[in-house]
Amino acid sequence: SPSDPDLVERARAAKEKLGDKVFVLGHHYQRDEVIQFADVTGDSFKLAKDAAAKPEAEYIVFCGVHFMAESADILTTDDQKVVLPDLAAGCSMADMATAEQVAECWDVLTEAGIAEQVVPVSYMNSSADIKAFTGKHGGTICTSSNAKRALEWAYEQGEKVLFLPDQHLGRNTAVRDMGFSLDDCVLYNPHKPNGGLTVEQLRDAKMILWRGHCSVHGRFSLESVEDVRARIPGVNVLVHPECKHEVVAAADYVGSTEHIIQTLQAAPAGSKWAIGTELNLVRRLANRFAADDKEIVFLDKTVCFCSTMNRIDLPHLVWALESLAEGKLVNQIEVDRETEQFAKLALERMLALP
Ligand code: 13P
Ligand code: SF4
Repeated sequence: SPSDPDLVERARAAKEKLGDKVFVLGHHYQRDEVIQFADVTGDSFKLAKDAAAKPEAEYIVFCGVHFMAESADILTTDDQKVVLPDLAAGCSMADMATAEQVAECWDVLTEAGIAEQVVPVSYMNSSADIKAFTGKHGGTICTSSNAKRALEWAYEQGEKVLFLPDQHLGRNTAVRDMGFSLDDCVLYNPHKPNGGLTVEQLRDAKMILWRGHCSVHGRFSLESVEDVRARIPGVNVLVHPECKHEVVAAADYVGSTEHIIQTLQAAPAGSKWAIGTELNLVRRLANRFAADDKEIVFLDKTVCFCSTMNRIDLPHLVWALESLAEGKLVNQIEVDRETEQFAKLALERMLALP
């Protein structure tokens, strides 16, 4: 839907008034009305690097979700302020692993006598607390664009990986990129005693997957893939690795949001694509590449927005920018020093991956 012209003008004016003091980052899942004001757009990995690359900006306005703004705060200087236009923009997957649950899991691994062999690898989509836990225990962060390299690194450090919180990214990467079998992976359920696992299962596993998932990508099913192949002969199926294993196994291509965009850019005219990721991005790509005669459809029949990404809308962005332009700092995301120190260690290990 077209954005309200009055709000567009107000956002433009506030941004102009702020000039170089503000740097606006936009994740690919953001609404069109918001993404038009982003100085840079990207996947989680690119945005983390972009945030760190602008030390002269006093304010980083993060159009994305809470864990991304936290990571930006960790990677920027102490003087820089990170602002999330709506504090309710969280991530249900990140919420599936709390600091208490993860500490309890580590106790379980310790009691099973395997903690020393385990390297934690945490998906970017996690709270700063989980990133700090990861840093403290010698692990690294990963995103969907470097999960393979992160696992290769981790298996050089130890024999087993605790992958959290997205079971699907962990399982998909282990099976597709590391040559593991499904039986090499066990699922740790934080709501059950001992994660619902026996000591033998923990000792035999190469990959301990946390039982978290993305509810948006969880909507795609094997049936969605079969349906679209029947409906559009010759279609290429391209999905995000947060999708279930059976969906990823049935797809033709898999990758992060940035990878999805690059793949479509490089695709020949006349090609047909079904995309399994969030709908704002898929619609934007369908419009953008329609002129090049690339047919791009959403993988599922039902609508599939990320409701928390969508909380950042134009009214919230205008409010944040106008407040900053008036010298009023609002919705700052600030990670405490001790958490930041260890979380940064884990994030820097990711940034240093070959
Ligand atoms: P990427 O943009 O890194 O592919 O991640 C997708 C996502 O779910 C962000 O929340
Ligand atoms: Fe979290 Fe999924 Fe939304 Fe990404 S798409 S922010 S993983 S709920």
